[in-house]
Amino acid sequence: MENFDFCNPTRLVFGRGSIAKLGELIPESKRVMITFGGGSVKKNGVYEQVMKALAGRHLVEFWGIEPNPAVETLRKAVELGKKEKVDFLLAVGGGSVIDGTKLISAALLYEGDAWELVQKGAYDHTVPMGTVLTIPATGSEMNNGAVISRRETQEKYPFYSNYPVFSVLDPMVTMSLPDFQIACGLADTFVHVMEQYMTSAGQSRVMDRWAEGLLKTIIEIAPLIRENKDDYDLRADFMLAATMGLNGFIAMGVSQDWATHMIGHEITALHGLTHGATLAIVLNGTLRTLRQQKREKLLQYATRVWHLVKGDEEDRIDEALARTEAFFRSMGLHTRLSEEGIGEATIATIEKRFNEKGVAFGEAHNVDGTMARRILENCK
Ligand code: NZQ
Ligand code: ZN
Repeated sequence: MENFDFCNPTRLVFGRGSIAKLGELIPESKRVMITFGGGSVKKNGVYEQVMKALAGRHLVEFWGIEPNPAVETLRKAVELGKKEKVDFLLAVGGGSVIDGTKLISAALLYEGDAWELVQKGAYDHTVPMGTVLTIPATGSEMNNGAVISRRETQEKYPFYSNYPVFSVLDPMVTMSLPDFQIACGLADTFVHVMEQYMTSAGQSRVMDRWAEGLLKTIIEIAPLIRENKDDYDLRADFMLAATMGLNGFIAMGVSQDWATHMIGHEITALHGLTHGATLAIVLNGTLRTLRQQKREKLLQYATRVWHLVKGDEEDRIDEALARTEAFFRSMGLHTRLSEEGIGEATIATIEKRFNEKGVAFGEAHNVDGTMARRILENCK
């Protein structure tokens, strides 16, 4: 295990009725800008709960942070926030609203353009923010990452700032999610865990078993959520699994991959495909392409996650890869680029972009443009 220095300062306020606690979580003196997405919170009662909890406060609302938040939209929020002199941000929504608000929180204290911050990659001088999470998926509610898009150039990059001060997670708010968003959230969570687990074996028994526990939980609850749409405990497990999947708890002292995500971001930037939907395709290509490099961990995954204990080792890996793809398909997600009408032109663009940037993703730092092409060709 490598040395590490771990600190996750986000206060998690979890459970039914938790939105009512916002009044205690945000100091009375604060001038708060509340950020929202496209309006789902007005249909499912979340907006009313937030407004009731913060009645009498100095509030400014900013609406319209879209999925895969665009810097073009976020600049407008920064302008409004500066004008209103806000000194606290409350993101009410999914990963997109939370990520967008992380960039706003930095840009409010930055002189230049918000896109410059994304290009820098990190900026930790920020206005404090809290969140009310409405879709389990990204872990953004308890990490310091964000992924920001720029529509005019079809780009999408990670950006790091500060952790939310608090996040309110009420599983009840997920009841209004459409099946596709639930599937994408489960796939995103699954792949977050895989990015931190499916590397080389023997680094940490604690991290391995923690990660395997999350993977098995996701596999177990996915069909149950589809069949029991109003089961609170299933939603609670989904929500907590998603948060635990990307809040640093399973990444202590171990190497990480993230190639699937970086390729997936390009697909979203170029085609607008939903984040989780890109991962359900690309992960299969990554595992097929890097099978030898990841062989020992794939065998461990086959045994401990899919309970494949009999037969030849290569057959067990084959079966684990097949089950992984079948799992995504069982949730109604596509697992092949061709099913999304994506082909050679996109593969060539991603290869070129990776080569131009000179990137080398993955635990072995070998996912460059050429390897990205091989991965994408392996999920055609
Ligand atoms: O905008 P509204 O109207 O609220 O609708 C949203 C949106 O259309 C809807 N929705 C959210 N909660 C709902 C709901 N509909 C009904 N009921 C509810 N309770 O769902 C749609 C998708 O929302 P979005 O926020 O885009 O989803 P998600 O949480 O999956 O976020 C995706 C974004 O997060 C980034 C992705 O790249 C993508 O841009 N990620 C952020 C990460 C991080 N910060 O650590 C890591 C991830 O790997 C990921 O890259
Ligand atoms: Zn993700």
